[in-house]
Amino acid sequence: MTATSVHLPAAGDDLAGPWWPAPGLVQTNHRIATLTRRYVTAEHLCDRLNDLPRQFQTPQPRRWPRIAWGTLHPDQVSGICLDTFCAILLGTINTEAPIRGYTQASRQYLEQFYPQMAQFVGGTVNADGQVLAPGLWEREEKRHTPVLSLLYQRLSGEPPQSVPHTARPYTPSDDPRADLYRHGLHRIATEYGAACLYLWMMAYTTGPLQAVLGELLIDEINHMTKFWGFGRWAYGETNVGMIASTLAQAMVQKWRQPNLQGSLIHTLRRMTAELAWDQWHLRHRLTLLYAFDQVMRVLWRWDQTLTPTYLTNLFGPNPPTGRGDRSPSR
Ligand SMILES: [Fe+2]
Ligand SMILES: [Fe+2]
Repeated sequence: MTATSVHLPAAGDDLAGPWWPAPGLVQTNHRIATLTRRYVTAEHLCDRLNDLPRQFQTPQPRRWPRIAWGTLHPDQVSGICLDTFCAILLGTINTEAPIRGYTQASRQYLEQFYPQMAQFVGGTVNADGQVLAPGLWEREEKRHTPVLSLLYQRLSGEPPQSVPHTARPYTPSDDPRADLYRHGLHRIATEYGAACLYLWMMAYTTGPLQAVLGELLIDEINHMTKFWGFGRWAYGETNVGMIASTLAQAMVQKWRQPNLQGSLIHTLRRMTAELAWDQWHLRHRLTLLYAFDQVMRVLWRWDQTLTPTYLTNLFGPNPPTGRGDRSPSR
């Protein structure tokens, strides 16, 4: 599968397989597994990472098919209360909205080490930091909030009363390479979370509504893959233990300051509140965990193929380490 082609479902099925009027846990998990096989394969992830050097040279946003907005209907949601589904949509709108802030923080962390990647995420800026041309990541992501807002309006019958988040600004320490490492892990985690959430929402939807969520999913998988693969090249010395230790540090060190913006605990708490987690039935929580697991299994399998030789062929030898060349696990 390429980023723009998805196999068409058989007659009577939708993109997730058989559509049930009131799916239970097992049926929803089957749908999640089908969606994972359709959208998240190791071959597809490979294709998305191979695309990155090309996008450095000639950035081209992925084209979306035309959306038949008039055919969207609340009947295309099943297995979850419409109010809860709309509350989740509102949470995604608030989270996606400050994309300019996200891209500019990422650009600042990247630019002294990897100017091409900084441009891919944050575009070009003038001496005052004004954006002259947005990066490809921003151009693709900025489509999401208007689309989600239209979905919300079609399903709830009213415009979203959104309260967009404030993106955490660039906050350098005396070790910029370690800052970039932590920031990059956070970015990968949020792209992965968004991909899993849209895939999960597709399991509870059908028809044109499901197809729109599929476009969001394809974008998030694309970005997650590029960030992950680039990070594996840029921090070739890392292994699973170092990643786990950085994540554990971020969790443990911030445990006593859970409201500290930017900590993983803060992000997790904010997201569960934002996505109306307290309205979720137990089976919704379990199926979301299943989606996280299904997608991560593919990511780990694909990660095994990211050998130093392969990454060197893709991005070049010896990634620059800049002036803050110290262990990223600091
Ligand atoms: Fe997004
Ligand atoms: Fe994203």
